[in-house]
Amino acid sequence: MYRREGIAMQTIEIKDNVFLLNTANTSYMFYADKFRHLQHVHYGDRCFISDFEALCLKRCIQYGDTIIYDEKTDDEYTLDSLPLEYGSYGNGDFKEASIEIEDDLSFTCDFLYVSHEVVKEDLKIKDLPSSYGSDSTLIVHLEDPVNKLKLDLYYTIYPQEDVISRRAVLINSSEREFVLHKLMSYCLDLFEEDLTLMSFFGAWDKETHLNVTGLVRGTCTLGSRVGFSSAKNNPGFIIRKRNTSENFGKAWGFNLVYSGNHYSSISKDEYSIHRIQGGISPERFHYSLLPGNSFETPEAILTYSGTGLNVLSDHFHRFINNHIVRSKWKNRERPIKINSWEGFGFDFKKDDLIKKLAKIAAKLGIELFVLDDGWFGRRSSDKRGLGDYNCNLKKIPGGISSLSEEIHKLGMLFGIWVEPEAINIDSALYEKHPEYAIKDGERQFRFGRHELLMDLTNKDVQDYIVENVGKLIDDNSVDYIKWDMNRMMDGVSGVYNHEYIKGLYSVLERVFISRPDVLFESCSSGGNRFDLGMLCYSPQIWSSDDTDPIERIDIQKGLSYLYPVSTMGAHVSASPHMQTLRQTPLETRFNVAAYGCLGYELDLSLLSPLEKYEIERQVAYYKKHRRTFQFGTFYRFDDEKDYEAFEAVNGDEAIVTKYRRLVHAVPVYDKLRVEGLEEDGEYKISSKPYLHNLKMFGNLINFVTPVKVNADSKLIEIITKFKGMDASIQDYKASGRALKSGIYLNNLFLGTGYNSNIRIPLDFGSDMYESRVSETTDKNKD
Ligand code: DGJ
Repeated sequence: MYRREGIAMQTIEIKDNVFLLNTANTSYMFYADKFRHLQHVHYGDRCFISDFEALCLKRCIQYGDTIIYDEKTDDEYTLDSLPLEYGSYGNGDFKEASIEIEDDLSFTCDFLYVSHEVVKEDLKIKDLPSSYGSDSTLIVHLEDPVNKLKLDLYYTIYPQEDVISRRAVLINSSEREFVLHKLMSYCLDLFEEDLTLMSFFGAWDKETHLNVTGLVRGTCTLGSRVGFSSAKNNPGFIIRKRNTSENFGKAWGFNLVYSGNHYSSISKDEYSIHRIQGGISPERFHYSLLPGNSFETPEAILTYSGTGLNVLSDHFHRFINNHIVRSKWKNRERPIKINSWEGFGFDFKKDDLIKKLAKIAAKLGIELFVLDDGWFGRRSSDKRGLGDYNCNLKKIPGGISSLSEEIHKLGMLFGIWVEPEAINIDSALYEKHPEYAIKDGERQFRFGRHELLMDLTNKDVQDYIVENVGKLIDDNSVDYIKWDMNRMMDGVSGVYNHEYIKGLYSVLERVFISRPDVLFESCSSGGNRFDLGMLCYSPQIWSSDDTDPIERIDIQKGLSYLYPVSTMGAHVSASPHMQTLRQTPLETRFNVAAYGCLGYELDLSLLSPLEKYEIERQVAYYKKHRRTFQFGTFYRFDDEKDYEAFEAVNGDEAIVTKYRRLVHAVPVYDKLRVEGLEEDGEYKISSKPYLHNLKMFGNLINFVTPVKVNADSKLIEIITKFKGMDASIQDYKASGRALKSGIYLNNLFLGTGYNSNIRIPLDFGSDMYESRVSETTDKNKD
């Protein structure tokens, strides 16, 4: 049973040397053993502190071929075979260490329990963003008595969201210098069999694709070495029991509040301990820890569900909406936007084109106009201009402030694109400050998208960005910023990358925390920096440059395991699609983008009156159900044959969409399944109305028209610009219980005849259904 509201519980229970951390549905237990090592006991369903003895590992014989920690007092005690809260090298634990240090004397660390404290207010991490709004953090103080290093382990509890966050702080209280190579944010030793890893891999245009692999003995690592969190491996991942599905079984979720090079590893040892750990990438990381100094890791987010993946994702979603996202946009509905990029690229010679775009968008009900790349300095292509902020008056003669004014007069918000972390050699800024660019010693420049990165560890560079972006916002009444970043970072050390990321966070803090009204959408060639660190500043992130809806189903589905819909920028673009050349119905393009922060990104002036009419209806529909789409409980489905389906539920309202990939002849009867409604409630289910374009029928149109027509005729050409054919309107009634098990839908078209109840399938077609409490139930309630 999943309990959420009104929980009465003690979040941190401590008895003798046992620590129990409770959330609404989960418990995390560990203890300080007789040698004062922290041993992990349990992370899973709720349990009692009195279960400690039962849940604890039973150890009553010596393991062969191991290093005994203290032979004199206990010749059965060997750390290699024990589940630990934080692993280190040199004391007999040969599992992958969570900390690696080096000094003149030794590589060994042995951290022992000293004391603990419970803190009731938020604790900040120096120079890094973190979650907020918890009133219970347990800090366990450990110390290595030989090298005089101290290690503090932080456990912060978010009971309502079933999340526990972890991080570590290493303090050098000795009198000598240490080189720190690795300090993981957390280490979790899980004893479970049959575990499967779900990671999210990708590339530009192909982000967050789900990768599922069984865990075998050995080590699996995930990470990024490209300077930012990267689409190659999102920092978030899930471990589940092999048979866990969307609505059944155990799963553990992990993520990091960090945007730089990261590393996670999952190793299964000979005793079936799965050591899971994550943090800053240790590659090329040599941090000099001077006497008296400390090093703080980024925060890691852990969650567990005993009732399947949908619930696991819901933990992440509610946690992010409530404890990561800040600003006035926290839990606030996001505006529908029109973005100039896919429609025009750099190619808007005069601002007439974009003004026309804005006017049409305003008429269709779109709320935010975003001027993307190409508006400043020498920026006629991606080879030049980055670093400069002066408006290109040849393209926008009145300047940005007059454009912003005109947009505001149309009743829309005004947004603009910037890429502050990069510089082109062909720019006024580079001519003046070549030292602002990151260079790789004496080696020749290596460009990525023709650009170099700016040295964000340099205070002058930070000030330059803060001043220019701040001025751009303030002088032009900018309501929304799209902050892009398109170059990977190479040729630098791991420590430099960390310093860069800290510089970035400091810049974002200075620009956005003092301007909480500005909606900030982060972007990195699409979703290359989709992580919790960026979400601490930008309430939403551009999910991918790939706006083909069929590709987007996989991308948004992948994201949905870790991030809420309210954080995903999702746009309707042109068909055939820019990158895939695939033709898709306008309806499907909307139906996918609707499970995100909706926008349009195409030249609206090229659309037919019929398409504009459809967009106007889509915009109105989205506005009506925006709370459900953006902040509802999100569901995925396991066993949809030939389909993918998404659902969002907000109270009594559920919106489910079935996306078809390819049509098959003689399709099986298919069902509509709706999760998350009151089982005893009575619901009315109606399909979202839309129009089919008659042209898609070709000459088959003669099956449905009373007079014979030629599909290629001018007449049809003209008619189809204005008129469409109603998709079959479907209405059903069912209880929440029937909907959960699935109700049969009307037949699909088979080629054996036509009537208005038939659903017309299409390759890449989709149908959106809205379930709401039926009137009879409403009346009964009165
Ligand atoms: C990459 C982004 O992902 C796109 O959306 C667009 O803003 C371009 N950059 C502009 O250069």
